[in-house]
Amino acid sequence: MSQLGLSKLLDEMLNRPSAIRSMMKLADDRNVRSMGLDPKDVISFGGGWVGHHAPERLREIYVDICSDKELFHRTGGYPPIPGTPECRRELAHMDEHLFGVKATGENIHVGISSTELTHDLLRVIVNPGEDVVLFDPTYVNYYGQLVFALTSWHLSKVSGGVDRLVPNAEVAYLRTLDPATWSYLPDVDRSISELEQIFKIHKPRALMLATPDNPTGQVVPQKFMQAALEICQRNNAYMIVDYAYKWQCFLDPPPEYFSWSPAEIDNLILIYSASKWSRALGRRLGWVTASKKMVEAMETMLTYSILCADHMHELATAKYLEESIADGGLRRYVNYWNAAYKEAARITLDGIDKYCGCRRLEPQGALYTVMDLGVVAEPMVHEILRNTGVLFIPGAGFGESLVNGVRVSYGPLVETPERIKVGMERVGEYLKTCKTE
Ligand SMILES: Cc1ncc(COP(=O)(O)O)c(C=O)c1O
Repeated sequence: MSQLGLSKLLDEMLNRPSAIRSMMKLADDRNVRSMGLDPKDVISFGGGWVGHHAPERLREIYVDICSDKELFHRTGGYPPIPGTPECRRELAHMDEHLFGVKATGENIHVGISSTELTHDLLRVIVNPGEDVVLFDPTYVNYYGQLVFALTSWHLSKVSGGVDRLVPNAEVAYLRTLDPATWSYLPDVDRSISELEQIFKIHKPRALMLATPDNPTGQVVPQKFMQAALEICQRNNAYMIVDYAYKWQCFLDPPPEYFSWSPAEIDNLILIYSASKWSRALGRRLGWVTASKKMVEAMETMLTYSILCADHMHELATAKYLEESIADGGLRRYVNYWNAAYKEAARITLDGIDKYCGCRRLEPQGALYTVMDLGVVAEPMVHEILRNTGVLFIPGAGFGESLVNGVRVSYGPLVETPERIKVGMERVGEYLKTCKTE
């Protein structure tokens, strides 16, 4: 880097330990080889992504668009900033068809991913200096997203005449995992009182959570969500629900709040992603469902951040949804893969119980569970990788409650579930030798 350097904000973030960067380094082929392992033999429970294939009909629609000279030409033009009317309409239609959410296309703003939309949404609703509440543990990216979206800092002189960057907002955490009993929201009433307290002290602008959750694989219970919504309403705060994994919910029926609509509940904002349900992690498409007023506000923000989302994906998604909602194909696809992830979760849990004997949570959705190693996980995951060729993600990056835990992702292994058992067997053998040493 030239002498010009970087912003203080970036310097600050570079100096902060990053769970994502350390995960990437751990999984990097060069690191794996330096441990004397062949990357092909590594079984990774590290990836926060899905392994299943996208709907075949969706792939064909992309082929049709590319084969049609004029249609392909159309995808090279900017779509409207909030998204094409067809895409917005069909996304609303999908949420009603699958989950009973009553909203229209005017409640939808399309973006290039939930990551981008979370950043832009935070800019739209939170002022620098206002606090936000997150769960502990929670999705690893939220903290950095809050910092980059909201940090307005001042330089304050500390002793020795050194300038220090002082962010003037706080992230307040509500503990959802009890590491003593390894249970999730074990006492909902107590957690609701804690949330009330946090609101009294911090007067936050928003509560942001994911359900089904990354990293715990838990679905936040109805009673907590209802109370949290009311607390947000009483305190003039937004409730942001990240539904990246709404389609991977193993509870049947799903909780009632899956059908809550921001068209009827003003302070509720839902963030969605095509990444996980349709294996579109690299074909970037996300959307926000919110009140019409909020959608208009997002339009102003997106004009300056991304200008508009991807026309090709909007066109293909709209066509696929229109067809597959009508002929039942969407529901069949979602149900099929939901069952496959549920089965992968069961195999993972059986493997942990049979071979590792560690405390763990029973997944209710998403792609994950968390497992207690009983010792600080950060150095231990390196030893596990070195000795077994199995990769877990240390929990500390998700929150203090997970310092002794690891996130176990079965998402990438859904089409090869036999590898889950082999991986757990290897880890179990190694953990036995640790106990006898
Ligand atoms: C809870 C949660 N939200 C958002 C994302 C990112 O989604 P996208 O690919 O739409 O940016 C992830 C990815 O792992 C996630 O786990």
